[in-house]
Amino acid sequence: MSPQTQRSFGPDFALDVEDPAYVKNPYPTYRWLRENAPAYNWRAHGDAVVFTRHKDVKALLFDRRFSNDYRTWEFARESSWPPEHAEYKELMDNGLFGLSDADHIRVRKLVSVAFTPRAAERMRGEIQQTVDDLIATHASGNRFSLTSITEPLPINVISDMLKIPEDLRGEFREFGLAVIRSSILFSNIEQMFSLIAPMPRWLRMLRGVIEARRANPLENDLLTTLINAQEGGSKLSEVEMISLVQGLIAAGSDTTVHAANWAMYTLLRHPEQLEKLRADPSRIRNTIEECLRYDLFGKTGVPRFAKEELEFAGVKLRKGQMVIPHIPAALHDDEVFPEPERFDIGRDMSQTIAFGGGQHFCLGAAVARLELDLVVGTLVRRFPQMKLVGEPEFEPHPLMRAMKRLEVSVD
Ligand code: HEM
Repeated sequence: MSPQTQRSFGPDFALDVEDPAYVKNPYPTYRWLRENAPAYNWRAHGDAVVFTRHKDVKALLFDRRFSNDYRTWEFARESSWPPEHAEYKELMDNGLFGLSDADHIRVRKLVSVAFTPRAAERMRGEIQQTVDDLIATHASGNRFSLTSITEPLPINVISDMLKIPEDLRGEFREFGLAVIRSSILFSNIEQMFSLIAPMPRWLRMLRGVIEARRANPLENDLLTTLINAQEGGSKLSEVEMISLVQGLIAAGSDTTVHAANWAMYTLLRHPEQLEKLRADPSRIRNTIEECLRYDLFGKTGVPRFAKEELEFAGVKLRKGQMVIPHIPAALHDDEVFPEPERFDIGRDMSQTIAFGGGQHFCLGAAVARLELDLVVGTLVRRFPQMKLVGEPEFEPHPLMRAMKRLEVSVD
């Protein structure tokens, strides 16, 4: 634990997710919160209540008395959006993350068939090819940064699913990163508007791709399926369809990257576990679950808002009050995961909630798991001599503990 973080524990403790010590190793903080303030009042962050115990976090994910719609927050700022971003605001309000119960279920149903484990499995060959190509391009020397392989992977996978033209993928990644990083609830408003400055151009580009696909539908294509659902009338409105595509690009671009980086970092720091995996590659699936438990990349969790005045886990909440299910902290709760700071690829992972739970359970979980199996599994197999070179370099991110470089040597 860094002395910087240790000193701040105690009655004056204030959660600071920007603190570099927290970004590198937040687990002492999580432990302190679970043991001393399991319903922590995060005053600096909209007077939210942060829950860190596994049983509370899980219960919160399943509790229908909370909404994910940020517009129901008691301090929601409806009026401060400039007119040039009105279209983007409308898309945000109609995305999976924001829709209310019945609309959420209707929209999610239309897209979930493309994200089942079986559908993901059909992409195995294509994803493996993408991993192999990225390794061939970026891992030619004796030393390289693993981020050069992990960063392009997820945007390529989601772009393959939506059949986004090759020449637009770089732009689409920028677009996806801006959507995630300009989080309304976690960025300050100036930062947010500066990140989304190019949004009108990105939205024109997205509409252009959709119009071209409408004119030329493709076989086995997620975008064509969504366009057909929209043209079918009541099933999916145009704004919901565009918002869904935008949401998939965003969630597909800036999550699995961090999961892969942290998984490799963890494995390389635990050579005996890495050896176990090498000796029996069929352990990859459980290894990935344990990597996600041991060092989940999210800084906190996706907020919810009390739909009415209510009591949860013994805490009285106001209507519209923000609550945060802190999934990474819950995954280190020793009531559920004994010796949580021991990394063990043979651990029972049946109680994991790394991908959430309940109605907002991660839509992309099966795809993300497969991407991680393939990229981590291939790197481990191809480079038996791989070692960390120094420590990772981090970059600012409102939601995630994001690495910019993760240097390794392979000779
Ligand atoms: C290791 C990588 C990933 C992790 C750990 C992860 C985790 C999560 C979690 C915890 C939630 C629930 C949020 C909540 O409770 O409100 C979520 C939602 C979601 N995820 Fe993921 N995710 C990952 C990758 C992906 C990928 C690759 C995609 C898309 C291809 C994706 C698409 C989504 C979508 C659309 C939702 C919203 C679902 C809804 O509200 O109904 N995720 N994810």
